[in-house]
Amino acid sequence: MIAVLDFGGQYNQLITRRIRDLGVYSELHPHTIKAEELKGMNIAGIIFSGGPNSAYVEGAPSVDPDIFELGVPILGICYGMQLLTHHFGGKVEAANHREYGKAVITIQNESLLYSGLPAEQSVWMSHGDLIVEPPEGFEVDAVNPSCPVAGMSDANRNMYGVQFHPEVRHTQFGDDMLKNFAFQVCGCTGEWSMKNFVDEQVEEIREQVGEKNVLCALSGGVDSSVVAALIHKAIGDQLTCMFIDHGLLRKNEADSVMKTFGEDFHMNIIKIDAKERFLGKLEGVSDPEEKRKIIGNEFIYVFEEEANKLKDMDFLAQGTLYTDIIESGTDTAQTIKSHHNVGGLPEDMQFDLIEPLNSLFKDEVRKLGTELGVPDEIVWRQPFPGPGLGIRVLGEITDEKLEIVRESDAILREEIANAGLDREIWQYFTALPNMRSVGVMGDARTYDYTVGIRAVTSVDGMTSDWARIPYDILEKISTRIVNEVNHVNRVVYDITSKPPATIEWE
Ligand code: XMP
Repeated sequence: MIAVLDFGGQYNQLITRRIRDLGVYSELHPHTIKAEELKGMNIAGIIFSGGPNSAYVEGAPSVDPDIFELGVPILGICYGMQLLTHHFGGKVEAANHREYGKAVITIQNESLLYSGLPAEQSVWMSHGDLIVEPPEGFEVDAVNPSCPVAGMSDANRNMYGVQFHPEVRHTQFGDDMLKNFAFQVCGCTGEWSMKNFVDEQVEEIREQVGEKNVLCALSGGVDSSVVAALIHKAIGDQLTCMFIDHGLLRKNEADSVMKTFGEDFHMNIIKIDAKERFLGKLEGVSDPEEKRKIIGNEFIYVFEEEANKLKDMDFLAQGTLYTDIIESGTDTAQTIKSHHNVGGLPEDMQFDLIEPLNSLFKDEVRKLGTELGVPDEIVWRQPFPGPGLGIRVLGEITDEKLEIVRESDAILREEIANAGLDREIWQYFTALPNMRSVGVMGDARTYDYTVGIRAVTSVDGMTSDWARIPYDILEKISTRIVNEVNHVNRVVYDITSKPPATIEWE
């Protein structure tokens, strides 16, 4: 395993990711981790990440000095290299000009890090400080006009430093450098895969849980499904899943979750039918934020009530991902948004948490799901908001309106899948604006609902563009919706990007 120590740089999550892509397991840890703890993790190498601080300033983030005595190879990236320099008596200073973006470096000492790579290559720089004098014992490996020490190494102590960021794609041979570090310097073999991850996690979960029991709130989304499958593999019937049907799910969703996990995976799964309770609370409510709040709170109340009825549940399993933790803020990374999994549960719940996905990225969770035999339909499921169809029926929610959204959405999903666009379009659904318009069906005037189609391409949902669905597919969807869904006489396609619109209509 290669441990990446986090000094708060914006690309830190990418470093572990790139190393894992090389077939070498890697985890991110706070820079405050003790040498003793690292020793117990069977590490082959350590990477100090980048970060926003200056190594020469009093109180700058540092590491347990015993880490340098572990005899494990170290690679310092950006701040990480400056920290190495400062620690070993070299000189770090503020640069006259900050350097951000592409730069060309020249290799003048082919240390193992640059083995097999050309003498000139482009890299990605992002720094305000630089090294003017490497510590004793270190050689300058690479230079560029504005950076006298773009790379350095001490082959005897197995310590390396780079001022640029090998983890970002703009660094031409970044992957090769990380590979050289992992394979040639640290002696890793690149045999790690999702299969190993499953084996390791199964063992860890068994050890953590012992004879006790685990409860998991299963929504049928990718993360909670994969976490349930993983824990089930580890402890079988000691896991109980709770699936709360709030009545705002898509067509056949509840049945399909119950079938997959109850019948196919033979899990202990309890379905809580809370439709009446949720719809009762939502009656007469049309404000979107109020609807969200009601649904969110009710979800917690139902979960708590039902969990209290179960005896001897000691652990709560959550599908928290690495990105959820980062977005919610760590010691070194700023808070972007508070994530539901991380901050949302009541503090007085008497559970210990199990979060076996918390070092993974979304696409790795998908790979893990496939490894565990979770069906593609779940592994590749598009994002679905917690409040469900409650925020796709605009204004007050009624059974009739829910039915229209459910049926029209099922047609849309079927046709998008038939057209082979289901992995290409990031999210697609129908919404029901709170309006009716005049139409003509047969020879009669109608006064019925309009269905809106929303389909977007996106990477993370923060920004999006409307998907260019071919006209003939849109035509088929529209014709089927007006023909097959009662009380709909008009279909519109939303052609706004985010911003200025949002993906959901409420
Ligand atoms: P917006 O509408 O904000 O959506 O552009 C961005 C992404 O977030 C999802 N979304 C939600 N997810 N609870 C959730 O769990 C919510 O209240 C919520 N609102 C929006 C939305 O489906 C899209 O993927």
